[in-house]
Amino acid sequence: MTFSTSIVEIIQRRYSCRKYEIQLLDNKTKRFLKEFLQGDSTSPLEGETRFELIEMSELNPKVKRQLGTYGFIQGAQNFVVGATKKSEHDLENFGYIMEELVLYATDLGLGTCWVGGTLKRSRFAAQINITDDEVVPAITPVGYAAKSQSKVDRVARWAARSKNRHPWQTLFFEVDCDHPLTRERADQYETPLEMIRLAPSASNRQPWRIIKENDTHTYHFFIIRKRSWYSRFLSWPDFPRVDLGIAICHFNLTAQELGLKGDWDFLRPSITIPPHLEYYISWISE
Ligand SMILES: Cc1cc2nc3c(=O)[nH]c(=O)nc-3n(C[C@H](O)[C@H](O)[C@H](O)COP(=O)(O)O)c2cc1C
Repeated sequence: MTFSTSIVEIIQRRYSCRKYEIQLLDNKTKRFLKEFLQGDSTSPLEGETRFELIEMSELNPKVKRQLGTYGFIQGAQNFVVGATKKSEHDLENFGYIMEELVLYATDLGLGTCWVGGTLKRSRFAAQINITDDEVVPAITPVGYAAKSQSKVDRVARWAARSKNRHPWQTLFFEVDCDHPLTRERADQYETPLEMIRLAPSASNRQPWRIIKENDTHTYHFFIIRKRSWYSRFLSWPDFPRVDLGIAICHFNLTAQELGLKGDWDFLRPSITIPPHLEYYISWISE
């Protein structure tokens, strides 16, 4: 996969866009997106995913009404619906691949917004005829961002505290969770880690924690879970796993761009794993 400019720049440019011009994508852009959706992904994770670009104008009025504004999204005329077959790494792999698409669309000058909570999932799932062994974790509108964002968008961003990101010392550690990793100690991995910090996540929770091994550039990726009082009332997919896939995508693409070589592995880390963290994967640099 090729981007027209630096992935670091694209990641910095991306934001969740919730108001779009009422304008169809031009044919060339649609072709680029469709080619991308059919192409190979750089995901190091296993799973089977498929994505479809859907145009509102092709849907009958009843279906259009049923899909509604899917929560906070206004004006979008196209959206991408993705499905993944249920498997061990399904949600992380989905997160990775859908984020590649989001970054690719950003590179094309389009707005996007991960939507996983505020949508009628089954109605979108019906658009791509999902089977019993598939799930639709999220969708994204793709379109031209409206010049001015709506009040609703401002409220959504405020509610999710979208601009805020946790500081380095609460996300990245060395050896154990008692020792925050400094930018200096991360050395050439400072930028890939910073790109994780800027990644989108459901409700802007940023549920990733990363522990570097002492004196090597081995990074262990974990999920930290925070149960909100309302989570037991929701039947949402396990979003922290999707978020982790997005984080792995930002890290991997940035490392590739910087020429940092390494491999992903599901080894059990030799460090003591703190009880509040769930281990997922490690990056071992060459
Ligand atoms: C898996 C996932 C699900 C999300 N679901 C929604 C959603 O249902 N509605 C919404 O408005 N935003 C949703 N978001 C967007 C987040 O709120 C947003 O990424 C976060 O607040 C950070 O803001 P930013 O993307 O502008 O950097 C979702 C993001 C992710 C990664």
